[in-house]
Amino acid sequence: MKFNGFFKPLKMALLICFSITAIGQSNSQDKEKQLDVTAALFKCLNEMTKSGSGAFFVDNMLGELEATVAVANSDTGGEYPSGSLISLVPTEVMIKHESGWNEATNDWEFFELNVSEQGSEIAVRGTTEVVNRFGGNCFGCHVLARPEWDLICGTDHGCAPLPIDRETIANIQNSDPRCIKEN
Ligand code: HEC
Repeated sequence: MKFNGFFKPLKMALLICFSITAIGQSNSQDKEKQLDVTAALFKCLNEMTKSGSGAFFVDNMLGELEATVAVANSDTGGEYPSGSLISLVPTEVMIKHESGWNEATNDWEFFELNVSEQGSEIAVRGTTEVVNRFGGNCFGCHVLARPEWDLICGTDHGCAPLPIDRETIANIQNSDPRCIKEN
């Protein structure tokens, strides 16, 4: 009892130290396991494969599209293969690097793009720290997906909901400025 007053702050300090170390470690990125991502890689949504009951679009930058689509269309979830590239709306994309790239995000990198008829530009990229243009932390919402869904939200995987409904999402998907440049 008598020592409680002394040990409590010590315990707190230790806890904070451990937490900071844990966050620092799990958030480190292994450059050897990083895929080479440039803005030219991002395509118009119509050139990708609609998956996840039509909720989002997928591709695979390592040519393993079938493996990515299989997980995206599975009723029970699964772990996405590296190279998987997933987009909900033109400006928000997730890419899976090689296994071991970043433990905290299970090797996903979050991208916020600027898109126009000229193509895509990478505005922000990274792991747990990436915030979208509405001030929302990508990882903060996506990590709430139940474990079998590998951080992919779909419409019912347990993520924090987006502030926009499915109809609005569909409208944004249908007006990707990168697709209509030939017209
Ligand atoms: C407020 C919570 C929230 C934030 C912040 C958020 N997302 Fe999402 N995201 C969701 C939800 C919920 C869905 C599924 C929406 C649907 O299909 O109806 C989703 C869908 C997606 C998808 C399609 C695959 C999937 O998980 O269903 C991608 C890719 C994606 N978001 C990337 C991002 C990126 C990149 C950021 C940050 C730049 C981001 N998200 C920020 C909640 C969020």
